[in-house]
Amino acid sequence: MSRPIVSRIPSTKLLYCPRQFRWSQRLVYFKHASGRYSSSKSPVPLPVLAPLPPTLKQKAAEVVYSDLPSGTTVTVNGWIRTIRKHKKYAFVNILDGSHDKVLQLVFNDPDRVNDLRVGVSLTVTGTIQRRQIPADPYEILVESYNVLGSVPEDEPYPLQNKYLSQDYLRRELPTIRFRSLSSGVAMRFRSRAVSELARYFDENEFIQTHPPLITSSDCEGAGEVFTVVSESSETPFFGKQGYLTVSTQLHLEALMMGLSRVWTLSPAFRAEKSITSRHLSEFWMLEAEVAFADRLEHIMSLVEGLLRTALTRLKESGALESVLSVKTYLEGQKSQDGHGEDKDQEITRAQVLQRWDGMLQNAPWKRITYKRAVEVLKQAEKEGKARFESSAEYGDNLKSEHEKWLASQYAQGPMFVTQYPSQLKPFYMLPTPGSCGGTVECFDLLVPDLGELVGGSLREFDYTRLKASIERTGVDAGDLEWYAELRKWGSVPHGGFGMGFERLICYLVGIYNIRDVIAFPRWVDHCVC
Ligand code: 4AD
Ligand code: MG
Repeated sequence: MSRPIVSRIPSTKLLYCPRQFRWSQRLVYFKHASGRYSSSKSPVPLPVLAPLPPTLKQKAAEVVYSDLPSGTTVTVNGWIRTIRKHKKYAFVNILDGSHDKVLQLVFNDPDRVNDLRVGVSLTVTGTIQRRQIPADPYEILVESYNVLGSVPEDEPYPLQNKYLSQDYLRRELPTIRFRSLSSGVAMRFRSRAVSELARYFDENEFIQTHPPLITSSDCEGAGEVFTVVSESSETPFFGKQGYLTVSTQLHLEALMMGLSRVWTLSPAFRAEKSITSRHLSEFWMLEAEVAFADRLEHIMSLVEGLLRTALTRLKESGALESVLSVKTYLEGQKSQDGHGEDKDQEITRAQVLQRWDGMLQNAPWKRITYKRAVEVLKQAEKEGKARFESSAEYGDNLKSEHEKWLASQYAQGPMFVTQYPSQLKPFYMLPTPGSCGGTVECFDLLVPDLGELVGGSLREFDYTRLKASIERTGVDAGDLEWYAELRKWGSVPHGGFGMGFERLICYLVGIYNIRDVIAFPRWVDHCVC
């Protein structure tokens, strides 16, 4: 089939725009080489199939899109969030996690809610009552309801409608927290982000691949691997030691040698004992590898283009607005209810906006070498502009405090630090031409408040030089022969990167701890559920 040429033509058809239930007059059409137009929303013809019970988000879209008049009968499902009884009426708010809005149910006899409790799941049939509130355009006047799942009468519902810190939700309510607004918005944003990142790769001819999670080598050579053993076998199950992957990079390189541009979003496992707000033992890493890329700039531009495009689209689609409206709501709730023993470091709505503005600034993101970064840090300390627990020294890894200062104070936005000394980086990186092996062609992308978000490099693509590097750095060559041999059969210059997916999400959603943007976080001494 011919590749579509994207063109926009005016259309009278309305498109649902999730921002505050407003409607857009634009519809994107694809023009095929044949001259035919097809709409991006044109339905695929299907036989008559049973529709799923609609979500509250779908129902809201239908009410507004089809302009359903007051009095139309509808059926909705959800969990009760609040119950308010008045003299003549009772109001019950339900939600279902499909978006951050609650739907108000109106009972014209308050006694009809006597059997209902917060947390109960139910199906409700009633009539639409249109309202003149743009953010909340309708409510349901209840005719009948059916409780699907009750809650114990003698126990308080754990997810009370008051401010609950992320820390509390994670510790005390690890499974039910997905019904909370804060967890819900993070999970929905995560899902939208995957779609937008995938879309960018797709549009740029990258092939999504699925490298293995069980490996025979430690990609980063940092000794942070988990070993895979079988309870039932006395000898190594795979005939040799197996590990959970710390990064799929090496296998991605093999795929790249045949497919040119590849990417994956895969779990990665690291037995790091660092108990910080930005480390997990199991996390998701977005990785890409690009053949024929012979300048570090290629890879940095790929990262910048990917993030700028995905963020712009997330913003346009209303995902940022949802994040901000939940934040505003929670900030209000917190100031009203108090925060108790809140261990979360607060990230305000204004800070979230600042982060997005920084990522989407007009100017290209700053790029400086590691050498220059160390000079800048030393100078700042000397001039009293910064105080660090330990001073930056050429030849040492940048500490988290240095990374945060560089991005927050020096660049005031995302910045690439390039060409680190080779002894600080893994064996596979390409030496900087003319540096006599002193530095390597690599970068870390640093962002304010968080520090390292992405690590990437050009890869050594010469067999003999890679073998020499493996020997020099002392990694186990036996397990890496297959990797070195990739360089034997038509090797090409190439490079790639890895981005911590949870770091990206907590940065953009303004959640302090990385553990709160992954469903079931694992870290040292913690593996709940
Ligand atoms: O910098 P790292 O260790 O790079 C690699 O693993 C390369 N092999 C990636 C590649 O080039 N394909 O990890 C990449 C990113 C980091 O920048 C960080 O954002 C994230 O992964 N990361 C973690 N995220 C959560 N918890 C951890 N323990 C993490 N360790 C690294
Ligand atoms: Mg790194």
